[in-house]
Amino acid sequence: MKQPQERRVALVTGASRGIGRAIALGLATAGFDLALNDIARQRTALDQVCVEAAAHGSKTLALAADVSRRDEVQAMVTDVVTAFGRIDALINNAGILIPSPVVSLAEVDWDAVMDVNAKGTFLVTQAVLPHMRACKYGRIVNIASIGGKHGAPEQAHYSASKAAVMGFTRVLAQEVGVNGITANCLCPGIIVTEMGRTNLADPETRAQWLRVTALRRLGQPEDVAGPAVFLASDAAAFVTGQTLNVCGGIVLS
Ligand SMILES: NC(=O)c1ccc[n+]([C@@H]2O[C@H](COP(=O)([O-])OP(=O)(O)OC[C@H]3O[C@@H](n4cnc5c(N)ncnc54)[C@H](O)[C@@H]3O)[C@@H](O)[C@H]2O)c1
Repeated sequence: MKQPQERRVALVTGASRGIGRAIALGLATAGFDLALNDIARQRTALDQVCVEAAAHGSKTLALAADVSRRDEVQAMVTDVVTAFGRIDALINNAGILIPSPVVSLAEVDWDAVMDVNAKGTFLVTQAVLPHMRACKYGRIVNIASIGGKHGAPEQAHYSASKAAVMGFTRVLAQEVGVNGITANCLCPGIIVTEMGRTNLADPETRAQWLRVTALRRLGQPEDVAGPAVFLASDAAAFVTGQTLNVCGGIVLS
């Protein structure tokens, strides 16, 4: 186990389940202390992830906040810095998917998806940046999606929000590199989570995804954790402004 003075501090949003939970536990295994966020109604599950991370030796803090609300985000980041003194890594993972064809897409659903996925990434990043700049060190990992590159029917707003995250990250990397901060995106493919099951509604759809995946299997949340831990680590010191597909070979580039 790393000694306390060597331990880095990560903030992971949407960490109570799925990919966020797997990334949190991956970071715990890698020796990070953890500030873990989710919305208030996920509090019980979030506390359980804290217990699991603590079993790996991590100091943990659970934070209920809606990433699309500036006031809640500011209070959350203040609490993290008060507890840990700094934030070395930020994983912007919180996201939602509300499937709808464009022709009947409700404005409220467009706004909700853009608010959490795109604006939430911006708000949390903006709140964290002064603390990273003060330390001249930071790792920002934004969870986008292969859906932001190609997309799928009924996911136009989701696809737009994830494309926004990628564009945001590329510019962010250019702005903050001078401060010793890196910013990168991960683009998961079909990952078996509550959200991922939306893409796996019936056996035929599932079979179709398997056919177009080079590795011929669906992704598990832990498949995303490894690349996220890498990008959050010192090993990725010279990697910034990049977008990495974590999709088993659906998108080949
Ligand atoms: N599962 C997939 O196939 C897949 C593919 C590509 C990208 N992604 C992305 O990965 C990320 C994690 O998704 P997942 O599959 O684990 O989904 P999930 O639904 O299991 O988890 C998402 C988490 O985000 C939290 N969340 C939602 N709105 C929030 C808000 N306003 N503030 C704070 N937390 C909020 C949820 O409560 C939940 O715990 C998302 O950004 C998603 O878009 C998932």
